[in-house]
Amino acid sequence: MGVSIISLVALAIAGLAFYKVVIYPCFISPLAKIPNAHWSVPVSPGWMLWKRFRMQNNRTIQAAHERLGPIVRLGPSEISVNCVDGGIKTVSMFTMIGTKSHSVRKRMLSNIYSKSTLQTSPHLRVVSNAVIYDRLLPILHDAASSEQSIDVHDLNQGLTMDFVSCYLFGLQNGTNHLQDHEFRKHWLHMYLCRKPFEFYHQETPQLIDWMECIGLRLIPKYCDTANDMLDAWALDLCGKAAQSLNSTDPTVEPIVYKQLKQSLDKQAAKEGGPKPDPAEQQNDIACEMYDQLTAGFETSAVGLTYLLWELSKNPDLQSKLHEELMTLDPPIGIPKSAELPPAKAVDALPLLEAIVTETLRLHAPIPGIQPRVTPSPSCSLGGYDNIPANTRVNAQAYSLHRNPEVFPEPETWRPSRWLKEENSTVDLEEQKRWFWAFGSGGRMCVGSNLALQETKLVVAAIYSNFRTTIVNDDGIEAIDAYTVGPRAEQLILKFHPL
Ligand code: HEM
Repeated sequence: MGVSIISLVALAIAGLAFYKVVIYPCFISPLAKIPNAHWSVPVSPGWMLWKRFRMQNNRTIQAAHERLGPIVRLGPSEISVNCVDGGIKTVSMFTMIGTKSHSVRKRMLSNIYSKSTLQTSPHLRVVSNAVIYDRLLPILHDAASSEQSIDVHDLNQGLTMDFVSCYLFGLQNGTNHLQDHEFRKHWLHMYLCRKPFEFYHQETPQLIDWMECIGLRLIPKYCDTANDMLDAWALDLCGKAAQSLNSTDPTVEPIVYKQLKQSLDKQAAKEGGPKPDPAEQQNDIACEMYDQLTAGFETSAVGLTYLLWELSKNPDLQSKLHEELMTLDPPIGIPKSAELPPAKAVDALPLLEAIVTETLRLHAPIPGIQPRVTPSPSCSLGGYDNIPANTRVNAQAYSLHRNPEVFPEPETWRPSRWLKEENSTVDLEEQKRWFWAFGSGGRMCVGSNLALQETKLVVAAIYSNFRTTIVNDDGIEAIDAYTVGPRAEQLILKFHPL
C-alpha cells in the first residue's frame, strides 16, 4: 500500500516535470507556434549555446531566417526577429536590467554626442586637425614615399582610439596610439587576449562562478592581468583629465569627462544625499569612459578597414571619390596648407556618405545579436501574439542587412544603392529603416555621430591624397561574433601618392 502511494507520487512528479519540460514548451506555450531553428530548441538551449561556443551565431541565425521567415525560435525561451514593423521597432522599446539609471546616464551625454555639437565643436576640430595632419598623413606619406606597405587594420585601431580618447579627455590628455606603435601593440594585445572568453561572460556567467567554487578557472589568469592593466590605464586617463577640469582651452579641456562629472555632481546635489566619495566617483566615471573608449575604437576601426578594402578593389570608384573630395574648400592636402574643411562640408558629400553607409551595411562592425527581454504580461511580435514576459528576443544587423527584398544582391558591396540620383528605383527610406549598424531605441549607439564624422574625415583625408591597392588580404573575412573583425586581424595595403 505504502509503496504504491510513493509510486503514484513519483509518477505524478515525473508527469508534471514531463509536462513542464516537454509538453508545454513544445505544444502549448505561445512560442510553440513560432518555427523552430532546430528540432531541439523548444526543450533545450543547448543547440544555440553550442553554435555560439563554436562562433557560428550570426550565420546560424541568418540561415534560420532564410529558411523559416522573419521570426524563429532559438531556445525554450529565446526567439529572433528579422523585420522592422512588429520586429526591431517594437523590440527597441523593450528593456534590459538597470534601465532607469542607464537612461539617466545616457541623457547626461546625449548633447555632447549630437551631430550639431560634434560638427561645431572646437575641441573635436582641434583633435581632428592633430590626428589627421600631425599623425595620420605623415605616416601614410612616409610609407608611400618609401614604397612600404601598411597594416591598415592595426593603424586604424590606433587612429580610432586617438580620436575617441582625445575627444573624451582633451587632445593633451588623450592617447597617441598612432605614433606610439610599441604601446599600441602592447595595449591591443592586452585588449584582444580576453576575446576568446567572451562567450562564457555573455552566455554562461554562472558557470564561471561554479567552476571557481570547485577551484577551477574557466578564464585564464592572464585575462585578470589584462583587465587590471586596462583598468589602471582608464583610471590614469581620467586622472589626467581631472587635472585639466578648469581649463577652457580646446586642446586641454576634457569635454566628455567634464560633462559627465558635472552632471553626476549636479544629480547628487539634487538628490540631497551626502557628497559623492571622490575616489568612488572617479572609479564610476572611469568605468563609463572605458566603455566608451572600447565601444568606440574597435567598431570604427573595423568599419574603416573594410571600407579601405572595398575601395582598394574598386579603382574606378576611388577616382570618382577623389573627384568629389576635390570640391572641398579648402582641400585636405599634404603638406598642410590650411585647417581641415568644415565637418559639415565633409558630411554633405553624397558619394562619401554612400560608401560609408554601404560598408556599415555589408560589414557591420557589430553584426551580432542585441538581446532584449519581453515585458510583462505579454506582447506581440512578427504576427505572433501572447509572447510571454521574460522571453529573450534577439535581432541582428547581420540578418536585417541581408534582406534581399530591401537590399537586392545583399552580399554585393554597392554604394550606388544609397544614391537616389544614380538609381531611381531605390527606396531609400525603406533601406534606412532596415539599416541597423548602430541599433535603435534606448540602447542605441551613443557615439554614432562621432563614428560617422571621424570615418568620413579619415576617408576624405586618405583619398584626397592617395590611391590604395591591396598587398595582402588573406584572412579578411570577418569572424562570426558580436563585434567582428578580419580573421587574420590585418589588411596590408600600399598607398600611392596622387
Ligand atoms: C562605426 C562605428 C560604430 C558602430 C558600428 C557602433 C555600433 C554600436 C551598436 C550596434 C551598439 C549597441 C546598440 C544596441 O544595443 O542596440 C553600440 C553601443 C554603444 N556604442 Fe557604438 N558603435 C560605433 C562607434 C562608437 C563610438 C565612436 C562610440 C564612442 C563614444 C560608441 C559608443 C557606444 C556606447 C557607449 C554604446 C553603449 C550604449 C548603451 O548601452 O546605451 N560607439 N554601438
